[in-house]
Amino acid sequence: MQTTGPISVAAYMRQCLTNPESGYYINKDPFGTEGDFITSPEISQMFGEVVAIWCITEWIAQRRPQRIRLIELGPGRGTLMRDMLKAFQSFAQFKNIIVDICLVEASPTLRTTQHGTLCDSAMTETEDGFSSVTRYGIPIKWYVNLKEVPTDIISFIIAHEFFDALPIHQFEHTQNGWREIMIDYSVPQVKTALSLPGQTRSFDEDPKFHLTVLPYYTPSSKIGPESSSRYINLPVKSKIEISPESWDVAKELALRISEQRTPEAPTGSGAALVIDYGPAETIPVDTLRAIKGHHFVSPFEEPGTADLSADVDFTALKLVAEQEGNVAVHGAVEQSDWLHALGIGARATVLASQQTTPEGKDRIAKEYHRLVERSGGAMGKIYKVMAFTPRGTPTPVGFGGGVIDQGDDDVE
Ligand SMILES: C[S@@+](CC[C@H](N)C(=O)[O-])C[C@H]1O[C@@H](n2cnc3c(N)ncnc32)[C@H](O)[C@@H]1O
Repeated sequence: MQTTGPISVAAYMRQCLTNPESGYYINKDPFGTEGDFITSPEISQMFGEVVAIWCITEWIAQRRPQRIRLIELGPGRGTLMRDMLKAFQSFAQFKNIIVDICLVEASPTLRTTQHGTLCDSAMTETEDGFSSVTRYGIPIKWYVNLKEVPTDIISFIIAHEFFDALPIHQFEHTQNGWREIMIDYSVPQVKTALSLPGQTRSFDEDPKFHLTVLPYYTPSSKIGPESSSRYINLPVKSKIEISPESWDVAKELALRISEQRTPEAPTGSGAALVIDYGPAETIPVDTLRAIKGHHFVSPFEEPGTADLSADVDFTALKLVAEQEGNVAVHGAVEQSDWLHALGIGARATVLASQQTTPEGKDRIAKEYHRLVERSGGAMGKIYKVMAFTPRGTPTPVGFGGGVIDQGDDDVE
């Protein structure tokens, strides 16, 4: 910054999260009660089971293609994939048509954790990445970028809490046009007893980062806010966040689905399921946040030591996907509604009935409520679910299509 001047929020996020040496995700496992945050798959096996059921219902809706690839973006500890694979074992037809699994993961540390969660066989490094075989005998490969994953097979793609980690740009609409909100730094200046009147002395401290609105335009401020009619007519003083990296991934997902055309599936095959937090319709504003030890902290304190994330702009993903691919986009719907439509109430009841102790029954009830609770900022409401499917195929379960279970009445 000393030489470049202020940097974009996107560049700051990228450095904090995925810098190859000191990025937050690169060297640590941030999950669980001992870590910085907990995610739905880490809360309960029910989450992965429901995602697995969704994949199967969608596979049936698309007339059971005979070879599919499972792709997961940002698989964390591998817990979601582990629970999905376990659930697939009860569906012989489906488990036998999974040709391979491709995980897209930026962190070498988490890649090793995922391997430990999913495989007994060793991991080998090949020219095009890392590979192994899962405990269920399915070949598995790791990639750093979705664009590296081959496109030769119909893919069912899951992205749980992946998009919120992708960099965002922030802009403010000023009297002079859109200006980018950047990150600058200052070295603390403190008056001391030894200072002459009006003088300050620099302390030997880390620089302090802060947001600043650039007084002049940048290429991003010329292109970003003018890229969509959603932004152009916003009044002066409006702020917006945009994530071109997220748009790029949404485009890639849509193309993968629409390019898998066959005579039986003329509009494409496969599906993508995005689960994350963010508004279903409005444009995110000022949502950059940092979480450390399960508490919100300043995104500018000790960069690289806290998880940085931002709300996902679901409408932006939908617009890009519909424009770039021959896909229908469903949702975003609230996680609580989606989980219930997929039968989490019934599943929780069965799991609770299998517990032999009151503590066990209580644990299942707590996990269930944590995933579906809607009051305040609870997960069931703030997390949203969106699906991309080939245009012309039936509306998927959970988005108004066939309903497995409506209620939560039977779980205490
Ligand atoms: C918030 S965690 C979610 C993990 C997991 N899906 C879950 O819900 O438990 C984000 C995941 O995305 C990965 N990730 C973040 N940025 C990435 C990027 N640019 N490319 C690939 N993976 C990334 C992280 O290493 C991590 O595995």
